[in-house]
Amino acid sequence: MDAPSDNKPTANHLSPKLTVRLCSDKPGQGVFAVEPVEAGEVVAVWGGRIVPAEIAAALPPQTRRYVVQVEDDQYLAPLDRIDPAELINHCCQPNCGLQGQITLVALRHIKPGEEITFDYAATDSSPFLEFECACVKQPCRNRVLADDWRRDEVQAANRGHFSPYLQRRIDAAAEAKETASRPVLRSTRSR
Ligand SMILES: C[S@@+](CC[C@H](N)C(=O)[O-])C[C@H]1O[C@@H](n2cnc3c(N)ncnc32)[C@H](O)[C@@H]1O
Ligand SMILES: [Zn+2]
Repeated sequence: MDAPSDNKPTANHLSPKLTVRLCSDKPGQGVFAVEPVEAGEVVAVWGGRIVPAEIAAALPPQTRRYVVQVEDDQYLAPLDRIDPAELINHCCQPNCGLQGQITLVALRHIKPGEEITFDYAATDSSPFLEFECACVKQPCRNRVLADDWRRDEVQAANRGHFSPYLQRRIDAAAEAKETASRPVLRSTRSR
């Protein structure tokens, strides 16, 4: 799929402070700042069509790479062409984070020339969206895996920026752990 080169309306929003360029470290293209971006600023809002896992997993790889998971069994897939906002790459030490399901915000001040990235562990938890990571930032997880959201360091780094469906899972796991560690109180009173 080609990125649009006309002025037709798009399914996605990308901040006008950003542009698309070929990456030197990762495969294909990425999104880069051309002007300073302030912490908290919205950099992108994604749109597209919503499909279940069965459809998302069966998409051809050149389309499936642009899929973002938004619920346990719901995925945002591109329409008939790829918009610039869909070209934002993963980084294990990102400068942006998710706000809600489809909005990406800057986590810190971003200088012109910096690549816009987020941690895909905050959105995706499906084996068919896994890949080898080529981010040059250390520490790098080397592979972006479906279960990355379970990792303590990933939860700490992306706190407040997980997709709501993943935040529900994290909260439920923490609650279950807390319940399991609670001492069982037995009544000693005889009837
Ligand atoms: C939404 S696309 C991002 C744009 C992509 N670079 C392109 O030109 O099509 C997501 C795909 O890009 C690749 N990608 C993104 N971040 C990456 C990274 N840190 N290392 C290696 N590949 C990456 C993976 O193939 C992933 O499935
Ligand atoms: Zn990495």
